[in-house]
Amino acid sequence: MEKHIALIRGDGIGPEIMTQAVAVLDAVAERFGHHFIYQDAPMGGSAIDAFGVPLPESSLETCLASDSVLLSAIGGPKWDTIDPALRPEKGLLALRAGMGLYANLRPASLIPQLREASPLRSDIVDKGIDFMVVRELIGGAYFGEHRTWTEDGQMAASDLMAYRESEIRRIVRVGFETAMKRRGRLCSVDKANVLDSSKLWRKIVNEMAPEYPEVEVRHMYVDNCAMQIVRDPSQFDVIVTENLFGDILSDEASQITGSIGMIPSSSLGEGSRGLYEPIHGSAPDIAGQDIANPIGMILAAAMMLRYSLDMPSEADAVEQAVSAVLERGLRTGDISEPGCTAVGCAAMGQAIAAAVAKTR
Ligand code: IPM
Ligand code: MG
Repeated sequence: MEKHIALIRGDGIGPEIMTQAVAVLDAVAERFGHHFIYQDAPMGGSAIDAFGVPLPESSLETCLASDSVLLSAIGGPKWDTIDPALRPEKGLLALRAGMGLYANLRPASLIPQLREASPLRSDIVDKGIDFMVVRELIGGAYFGEHRTWTEDGQMAASDLMAYRESEIRRIVRVGFETAMKRRGRLCSVDKANVLDSSKLWRKIVNEMAPEYPEVEVRHMYVDNCAMQIVRDPSQFDVIVTENLFGDILSDEASQITGSIGMIPSSSLGEGSRGLYEPIHGSAPDIAGQDIANPIGMILAAAMMLRYSLDMPSEADAVEQAVSAVLERGLRTGDISEPGCTAVGCAAMGQAIAAAVAKTR
């Protein structure tokens, strides 16, 4: 099969981890007889440097013309002090909106070889961590009206958190569908004791529940959810929530697995095209030193093969290659353990690519 893949190489460690993901995809193409055609779509800090804007029109066009998009990570201190309207993050938000990616799926699961890395007590970890955060991605406070003004001699600011019924319905549907494919338990997270947008959210979840009799639904306030994620994460299967709550809870969820460098995520809209990225940031402090962990990026490529390119066996091959390499004891610095073999970013990527070539 021939597939067009847009690459956003990003900032900081972005370009080096992307190189490794592409090496692994090339190994997949070779092993399974596909042809992947890559096209760069600059976005974020590097796009600001080259084009003066975080998301050039041509990059959005490249992404919209592709079968799917791979993104490493963007941003860094270099762009922290520029005009806020031009920050790297604005490019990401514009890309999400421009591609209509309303559903962000962020898995939190413990990688068996790395269970020691979790900061939680072992009796909590032993109960298992395997859940998915389904986050609404193009609504709420992120995309509501932002305003800063002066009033009675002092500054004031506001960000509007608004949701329309249809926006809630489509993401809650993704939550139910995801639960159907997993263990059938959906936890809808809101702040319905205070916020109108949450009251509407809860009403819609309750309205939709009868369509999914197999799914066990419950509601949880976001503050309680933040607590439950560290108290007993084994209680969760699928969490569905609005944009800002999902931003915060998904960072917390990734941290308890102890392997933030290993977790991929996907953003999807209508249709099969998606945006796939590791959940970690651009780590400018370690950029260019060949010490970054490329596994989150490589697993994001695997997720893309599975969900956007309809290549489940190819995705399995990549995931098995990652397991095999970890099993052999190869570790980048962030996941190092006594008795394991320390490797850099490129060596880790090459080992995984070589393992893909050997899968059957
Ligand atoms: C994320 C990030 C972004 C977000 C930032 C970079 C705008 O934190 O993907 O979670 O808040 O959505
Ligand atoms: Mg975030």
